[in-house]
Amino acid sequence: MGADQATTIASADAASRLADRYAAVRAASLERARPLSAEDQAAQSMPDASPVKWHLAHVTWFFETFLLGPYLSGYRPFDPMFGYLFNSYYEAAGPRHPRPARGLITRPSVAEVLEYRARVDEAIQRLLAQGVSAEAAFLTELGLAHEEQHQELMLMDVLHLFAQSPLHPVYGPGYRARGAPPAAWVELEGGVVEIGAAEGFSFDNESARHQVVLRPYRLSSRLATNAEWLAFIEDGGYARPELWLSDGWAMVQAQAWSAPLYWRQGEAGWSVMSLEGLTPLDPDAPVTNVSYFEAEAFAAWAGKRLPTEAEWEHAASARPEALRQLYDAAWQWTSSAYLPYPGFAPAAGAVGEYNGKFMIGQMVLRGGASITPGGHCRPTYRNFFYPHQRWMFSGVRLAEDARSAAARANDRAAEFRDAVWAGLSRHPKSISPKWFYDARGSELFESICELPEYYPTRTETALLARIAPQIAARIPDGAALVELGSGASAKTRLVLDAAPQISAYVPIDVSASALEGAAAALRRDYPSLTLAPLARDFTQPGELPAAIRERPRVGFFPGSTIGNFDPPAARRLLQDMRRLLGDGGLFILGADLVKETAIMVAAYDDAAGVTAAFNKNLLARINRELDGDFDLDAFDHLVRWNAVDSRMEMHLASRVRQSVRAAGRSFEFAAGETLHTENSYKFTVEDVVGLAREAGWGLIERWISPPPAFAVFLFG
Ligand code: SAH
Ligand code: AVI
Repeated sequence: MGADQATTIASADAASRLADRYAAVRAASLERARPLSAEDQAAQSMPDASPVKWHLAHVTWFFETFLLGPYLSGYRPFDPMFGYLFNSYYEAAGPRHPRPARGLITRPSVAEVLEYRARVDEAIQRLLAQGVSAEAAFLTELGLAHEEQHQELMLMDVLHLFAQSPLHPVYGPGYRARGAPPAAWVELEGGVVEIGAAEGFSFDNESARHQVVLRPYRLSSRLATNAEWLAFIEDGGYARPELWLSDGWAMVQAQAWSAPLYWRQGEAGWSVMSLEGLTPLDPDAPVTNVSYFEAEAFAAWAGKRLPTEAEWEHAASARPEALRQLYDAAWQWTSSAYLPYPGFAPAAGAVGEYNGKFMIGQMVLRGGASITPGGHCRPTYRNFFYPHQRWMFSGVRLAEDARSAAARANDRAAEFRDAVWAGLSRHPKSISPKWFYDARGSELFESICELPEYYPTRTETALLARIAPQIAARIPDGAALVELGSGASAKTRLVLDAAPQISAYVPIDVSASALEGAAAALRRDYPSLTLAPLARDFTQPGELPAAIRERPRVGFFPGSTIGNFDPPAARRLLQDMRRLLGDGGLFILGADLVKETAIMVAAYDDAAGVTAAFNKNLLARINRELDGDFDLDAFDHLVRWNAVDSRMEMHLASRVRQSVRAAGRSFEFAAGETLHTENSYKFTVEDVVGLAREAGWGLIERWISPPPAFAVFLFG
């Protein structure tokens, strides 16, 4: 506990703030009871739940016992029997009425409990007005946090009670957990991190702050939904023992579980008993009222796992902006047993029974729920329940292991090394142009785009600016734009500006630096656009981010980058896009057209030598990243028009016979021998339409710029 044990008097200002907070929290409890009749407030639906009347009295007893008794001189208890009736579990405070029989206490009446509350409130305000010790101030804070916990319990217990009634009573609106945008994975590196409470009010179980080691992991940006849970059920989730822990499976059998606690199957499908009565299942809302056993089985079914509490807390502290539904939807089960932290010490006195003695056999839940009073929770907050319980608002945030940034960098380095080794070993020597684009290469490409000779960028940009409204008219509401080889995403802006109905953008590029730069600028200029950049090779089959899976998709592949692939590879790429963009997907493709040879050659052999530097950057990159020893001056930038294949070629031609090293291996170049670094195919309109047709795309419309001619196609 953050208790300052000294008996200094809390400042007048702090005491008056405490008095205000006291009044507000106490009023909020009554507010939660207001929609309930006296009968509603007296019933108890199961041993774990308590009558609302009991909650209202018990939280009052807490203040009376731990604050008024010891700190307000001359205070006389409201009723000596209340200590017996409303003590929950404090052995130090004496014997108590058995918990399962709380619903049998018809007296005191609700009216008398309210009187009790008023008496205690008046006495507490008197105490606070006198000025209190830091210790008493802390106990007041504790009492208020305790009362907020019971405010949540009141609604849990009322829902459980109402769920027993064939009338499906309605409590009222305002406590529904809302859906969140589609899930994305939030990446965390882990390492040695600190968890636990440091400053401000906290419960004793949140201390001591301490170090833990986390391996790299991912957390879902949102909670598992009812739709996902339904898929689990429909896939036999409750009937497959292999998904369940042994104790969980025993529970499924014993309790005949087949769905979350409040789900009801009717002729019209599933509905859910909620504080708003029996309502149709909302597929986008987070699933709630599931046990640890169910959460664990669901995670196993999904091929994921539950996060540990340390993973949850670290993510909630480090990446709160990326994680939805942290505190306002449902408590999130963790795979952590509820145990004392290193350095834990129960609070002094009777309130030491608050948390510590329950550290056995329970699991930790993190976050907060839609019925938790606002401001009650924090990243370090540890809630806990038994693994079979499910009347609390408990849900699931999935996690999985990830590779570290260092391991991923290693993979990329090995991939480059293998490509270079293979490329320099083959005859004729060649390598994919994708290796041009490290940070320096991406910069050089941007400079190429400014060159007077390099017409494709300028020409395509002007054409796109003119036709963007026509393209935009075909783009459906809420569409996601998926761009291949996005680079600086400059042309993208023309599309985004003309089609504000685009709600998400997925740039895919091997150049992490270009991608980061573009994403940062777009985030600033298009704040409402969902951005999901992918640093990967767009020719490797992969899935689109979950964030856009449910949206209509539009592919965008400008710049004639399609021309950097030979026809079979281009066809494969267009086929992959057909699959990735789905039925009804659109595809905007830019392609450079065949023209006078001199114009094309100049575009790849500019007077300022920028393209030569771009070409030679490949060798510089090998020197930088693979410990190579290429002498850049011993190679010429060689450009030629290959009329047979209709393509511009770039090579690096060795001026002399020489031996070079890359990543520990030697390679021989004969004098004049070249390393073929890039093809840029130049097309006729028919070439492109034919290629696209073979990949399953139908032409919707095409536009051709004035010379030097460049074409933009819209396929569907
Ligand atoms: N679309 C931009 C940039 C074109 S430059 C424009 O039209 O101006 C080509 C871009 O494609 C570069 O940013 C490069 O890094 C990326 N690229 C090339 N091959 C790639 C591949 N196989 N996978 C992913 N990105 C690739
Ligand atoms: C990215 N790509 C389409 C460019 C092209 O024209 O082939 C790359 C480039 N190579 C030399 N200059 C520009």
